[in-house]
Amino acid sequence: MHMRQPRPTRRQLLATPLALVPASTASTARASAAGLGALAAQRGVIFGSTLTRGQVEESPEMLRIATDDMAMIVPGFEFKWPALRPSAGAFDFSGADAMLRFAEQRGQAARGHALVWHGALPAWFGDGPADAAGMHALLRRHIGTVAGRYAGRLHSWDVVNEPVEPWDGRPDGLRASPFLRALGPDYIDLSFRLAAAADPAARLTLNEYGLELATAEQEARRTALLALLEGMLRRGVPVHAIGIQAHLAAAASADFDPAVLRRFIRRVAGLGLDCYVTELDVTDRGLPAGIAARDAAVARTYRGFLEAVLAEPAVKLVVLWGISDRYTWMNDSRFARREDGLPVRPHPYDNEFRPKPAWHAIAGALRAAPPR
Ligand code: XIL
Repeated sequence: MHMRQPRPTRRQLLATPLALVPASTASTARASAAGLGALAAQRGVIFGSTLTRGQVEESPEMLRIATDDMAMIVPGFEFKWPALRPSAGAFDFSGADAMLRFAEQRGQAARGHALVWHGALPAWFGDGPADAAGMHALLRRHIGTVAGRYAGRLHSWDVVNEPVEPWDGRPDGLRASPFLRALGPDYIDLSFRLAAAADPAARLTLNEYGLELATAEQEARRTALLALLEGMLRRGVPVHAIGIQAHLAAAASADFDPAVLRRFIRRVAGLGLDCYVTELDVTDRGLPAGIAARDAAVARTYRGFLEAVLAEPAVKLVVLWGISDRYTWMNDSRFARREDGLPVRPHPYDNEFRPKPAWHAIAGALRAAPPR
């Protein structure tokens, strides 16, 4: 018989600040299969998931899964403005510091998400300063302070998140965000230059959604993004990678054409840029209620998508936007949640932290991936 250290109770863990949770409590690894992070590493791919401080403090199982499967952690909340900027004058680094320490103590890499994103701004921000000088000063202070604080410790930064929105009707397809309204499209170049000055080691990433499907709408998004990248590179802006968020829907798999996505990735690679899959998940919205069929369709979607992207050597990194159905943003999203009110099952572990067919599909795609 082999002696196990007693697992801490949930109450003990809740009372334990994250940084003090010993690594040993997280190391009851599954004997049956290599973790996803290790499988990916064998192919030269960095693999991980988003994770938040609340999740690991609440669930010992999340500690175990993080240790088993993640070679990289992307704090889901702690590096966003609402966490870092409780008021216009103050910074609060406690969550970001704790999550980065958590990753570093386990030898895991981390990404920063995100320096500039219209989608998560604190209430005090309002619509932001309307004048160019005010917005410039705000971005300079935020990016300089935050990217400077963590310089040399992050694999990469999502410098600008979701800058493209063809529906906003501009000829360049850019989103009419508060940043753009104040500074024009130059806010993107400016943000990357500020990030490079503050953290010269981080891979600077432009992160975007809605790039994966062979629909006219997503083709417009790909076209706008490529034009944006070409302009940035012409102007000598330090951009190193694109992030393909990859919030997928199993019910939309008829719109997925691997050849279309691979052609786009090759165009990006042709510009000298890497491709990161930054927020992969698969909603079962639009599928009938039966769990076995939903889980099978979600697993097939993971497999088909990962086989396509991993066939391209420019794809160096895959991050899931959630690993257990217990903690998913998709029930809160009006685009991703189910219309019948049942909880979605979009991630590789179920609500009770048991591996699902999706886990095996991801493992299979990683095993089948050509090495890079
Ligand atoms: C989500 C988080 O997971 C949620 O917890 C939060 O309430 C909203 O944001 N695209 C992104 C991510 O770039 O930052 C979003 O994360 C999901 C969509």
